[in-house]
Amino acid sequence: MKTSAHIPILTESQQQEMVFNERFELYKNGKLNESDSWLQKFQRSLSSSVYSDEQEYLDDPKVPLKTRLTLVGGLSRLNDRSGYTKIFLKELRELIPQRKEPVKIVDIGAGGGSLLAAIYQYAQKEGFAVDLYGVDLSSDFAQKTQFRLTAKKVPVKMMQGDATNLLKIADESFDIAVSSYMTHHIRSAYQVGLFLHEIYRITKKGWLIADFDRRVYGPLFVGLSASLMMTPRLLISDGIKSLKRAYTTDEMNFIMKEIAATKELRGMSCQGIPFFPYWKIKGRKWVS
Ligand SMILES: C[S@@+](CC[C@H](N)C(=O)[O-])C[C@H]1O[C@@H](n2cnc3c(N)ncnc32)[C@H](O)[C@@H]1O
Repeated sequence: MKTSAHIPILTESQQQEMVFNERFELYKNGKLNESDSWLQKFQRSLSSSVYSDEQEYLDDPKVPLKTRLTLVGGLSRLNDRSGYTKIFLKELRELIPQRKEPVKIVDIGAGGGSLLAAIYQYAQKEGFAVDLYGVDLSSDFAQKTQFRLTAKKVPVKMMQGDATNLLKIADESFDIAVSSYMTHHIRSAYQVGLFLHEIYRITKKGWLIADFDRRVYGPLFVGLSASLMMTPRLLISDGIKSLKRAYTTDEMNFIMKEIAATKELRGMSCQGIPFFPYWKIKGRKWVS
């Protein structure tokens, strides 16, 4: 008699994730909500036509670490030169509590740490104290960024961690969490929901998350603007890939509504930025 083939048994959360991801695919392709207007469906199918899951060099373990470090470093410089960091800080300003004790801020997916360095300089200029932390999935990035920022006299504590599972961080450990260009690296919509849950859990006051919005003209926007700023070829290529695999504003709101929309996440909603292929999730913690 033949032995039976191994049948994998899925845990309850794996089953949940599978069902959610199937629903998400239908939604992404405009096939889920029959009640949606034709225009919404049309826009959704346009953004789905831009979708591609090609891996970025930054995420590819086969690409030498030195090249990947050059890419995160290049992105840091691009963020500063393009004015992105300045806009991010302007948005963040509204969330910063007025008080004497240090404001504890964590950057999830901190990469080269340019945002943390900019927050530190901003706090010094405005005369408030900060206690800065950074988390990155890559322990190499976390280590190198710790080393680089310490050498620049920016006091931060970098650690390795996965945005979708930050259980080594206790509830409400930070006042504010920020995250920039990280969400599209999470390759399952369900896991993006877990990331949002984690953001909510580890903060006391609020959050600011920003990333690309997969709009039809996005690849052209990223390609042209990065070329004008003399960005290295590999970074332009990663930028275009990032945009094609990014989540749209509607998809982010779907994720929040479908999986993250427990009462805890009431403070969250995703907003697209007019004309630019970006979205932001900015909010204060909802307290009952
Ligand atoms: C495109 S870089 C952005 C870096 C930085 N935030 C910036 O704006 O310049 C994305 C970073 O997120 C990190 N990352 C990817 N997936 C992650 C995850 N699940 N948890 C934490 N960090 C992650 C990558 O290692 C990388 O450093």
